[in-house]
Amino acid sequence: MIKTRITEMFGLKYPIISAPMGPFYTTKLTIAVSEAGGLGVLSHATLLGKDSIKDMKAQIEYVIENTDKPFGVNVRTARVQTDHKILVRKIAEWRKKNPKIREQLVYGLTSAGGSKFPSKIWKSHAPDLKHFHVAPALWLVDKVVAAGCDGITATGTEGGGHQSYEGISTLVLVQQVAQKYPEKPLVACGGFASPEGIAAGLAMGADAVAMGTRFIASNQSEFHPNYKALIPPATARDTILTTGGFGPIRLLKNKYALEHGKVISKQEKISQEQSYDMNGFIEDLKRYMIVYTEGDVENGAIPVGQTVGLIDSIRDVDDILSEFTKKAEEKLKNLCSNIQ
Ligand SMILES: Cc1cc2nc3c(=O)[nH]c(=O)nc-3n(C[C@H](O)[C@H](O)[C@H](O)COP(=O)(O)O)c2cc1C
Repeated sequence: MIKTRITEMFGLKYPIISAPMGPFYTTKLTIAVSEAGGLGVLSHATLLGKDSIKDMKAQIEYVIENTDKPFGVNVRTARVQTDHKILVRKIAEWRKKNPKIREQLVYGLTSAGGSKFPSKIWKSHAPDLKHFHVAPALWLVDKVVAAGCDGITATGTEGGGHQSYEGISTLVLVQQVAQKYPEKPLVACGGFASPEGIAAGLAMGADAVAMGTRFIASNQSEFHPNYKALIPPATARDTILTTGGFGPIRLLKNKYALEHGKVISKQEKISQEQSYDMNGFIEDLKRYMIVYTEGDVENGAIPVGQTVGLIDSIRDVDDILSEFTKKAEEKLKNLCSNIQ
């Protein structure tokens, strides 16, 4: 057993968290990860044509009907994610009204919004919900700590999906946070998909490791079989950083990724958002999700991390959690036994 501040905080068997992967659903994945002894996290799914608030409530209700274990929820607070303010309030309200939601929904992870995160709302209306924020660079970690968040999810540039403009690696970022804020519970994310990675993350000072791509390639994730099938043969060289909805995004190289070109600056991105016409935006989003909805692996986006280079098979979630932790423990023990 590896005991950390985060396994203790949430009552977990393993120091492993599933990373949120909106706009796609990770509802079944959340149940599988939490049932297996890790912490599953619901994604801020904004699939076209659905009311995202009602939809999140339905996902939360589905999770509590199917597991009694703790889980988390992600809210993306980006400029273009216009439903986030209401979603944050609603999450607090649902927890107040339903004791089972309150008991199980223990982790609120905000992300993608730079320094704009709702620490005050959850502090006043859901004080027992542990609020972590995703930070890709130390300047943002400073703000997360100053705002009084309960913990930090330090996510480096190796990771899949949306990334920061700074491009700091997880290796450097996790060490920086562990050194500067040793008292803060810390999740290391981006670049983890193996027992070696878990051992390294914990050795650097993280209390848990979050994985995204590793869990896409699992039998329990909701991702299209065509999407999952691309991951085992892919190599670490097969991803590319391009411009996504909120900023830079790491995708598997395909027609969609190559057509979206290089990463534009933050200022250019803000101007692009201001000149968006809604129809164009919706058309692009539809295209983005076509891998998920129809399995079209050329014309849609395939967010994945450089971790594709570590993943060689599609596996069961409970095997990933139990085997990775067991092997990570062995590696840490071996290292300790080398100390004279
Ligand atoms: C398909 C996909 C969708 C993602 N969507 C989100 C999201 O909605 N919110 C978020 O905070 N991070 C999102 N991310 C980033 C992940 O939460 C996490 O940082 C990343 O997967 C870590 O890298 P790894 O995939 O190599 O484990 C996404 C990642 C992927 C692969």
